[in-house]
Amino acid sequence: PEERASLKARIKQLLKEKQAVLVSHYYVDADLQDLAEETGGCVSDSLEMARFGRDHAAQTLVVAGVRFMGETAKILSPEKRILMPDLDATCSLDLGCDAAEFAAFCDQHPDRTVVVYANTSAAVKARADWMVTSGIGLEIVQHLHAQGKKILWAPDKHLGGYIQKQTGADMLLWQGSCLVHDEFKGVELELMRAEHPEALVLVHPESPEAVVALADVVGSTSQLIAAVQASSAPSFIVATDNGILHKMRTAAPGKLFIDAPTAGNSATCKSCAHCPWMAMNGLQNLLHVLETGANEIHVDPAVGKQAVVCIDRMLDFAA
Ligand code: 13P
Ligand code: SF4
Repeated sequence: PEERASLKARIKQLLKEKQAVLVSHYYVDADLQDLAEETGGCVSDSLEMARFGRDHAAQTLVVAGVRFMGETAKILSPEKRILMPDLDATCSLDLGCDAAEFAAFCDQHPDRTVVVYANTSAAVKARADWMVTSGIGLEIVQHLHAQGKKILWAPDKHLGGYIQKQTGADMLLWQGSCLVHDEFKGVELELMRAEHPEALVLVHPESPEAVVALADVVGSTSQLIAAVQASSAPSFIVATDNGILHKMRTAAPGKLFIDAPTAGNSATCKSCAHCPWMAMNGLQNLLHVLETGANEIHVDPAVGKQAVVCIDRMLDFAA
């Protein structure tokens, strides 16, 4: 703990000296979430991270999350310096959606409006009409459906399927998934819910359909935290990355939080639902990038110029 405290103090000092701001996701190490809040940065879901990075005056942003979050920040603010604790922190959705294959898929369906999830590469975004995050995807597809648009959706099949079901939109789905949320299982969750009838079931929509079907609240990370704040329930079953529990416990001290069951693990497993790429962000590598300026994110300016169109559409819609 002493070492952690001194690392945190040094990081705070460097953020100030370098006039840099820290933007953290709810799935990263609790210390990195706290540091972002304590130093005037932000800890939030991917929609808010994008908006905060774009609007903040700082010329250096340190993004503690996964690669697509750093790339989105760079695409929105090409003039800023974007650093990340580990450039190899990727996402199974991004990895499962190769830009050339995706372009071929789009070419086969020119009549469809292309909507991509934020969890994609800059090159995939460059081919899209709209980018969405889990916090606003439903509303945007609703809006497009009302205009009579047919949609090509990528890459998360569970989020896409959920939105399709809720909106009734005509959606052709890419078959990607998140390796963390894909592990949540409906049958086991139903048993757990029966054991805790007083608990509110909170589910991120990257989870399989059978899990989403059992949810009291479905939403982005920020929306799930807001649901905890608004609820009088004494306990919560949480089907998303367990990095989020830090914020939930702070928001509702004294309440009980239970990890939703994952395949092959016990219901009380503490580390089963945790993204291996989010876990690559730590105090040591954060300090290293602040000291050295290493791990800068670069996006081909031509690709960025095309990709920004679909991100701006989302941010304008959300405004
Ligand atoms: P949120 O936008 O809900 O924070 O989700 C990002 C993500 O990667 C979830 O796995
Ligand atoms: Fe990607 Fe899933 Fe990790 Fe989120 S939790 S970054 S969707 S692999």
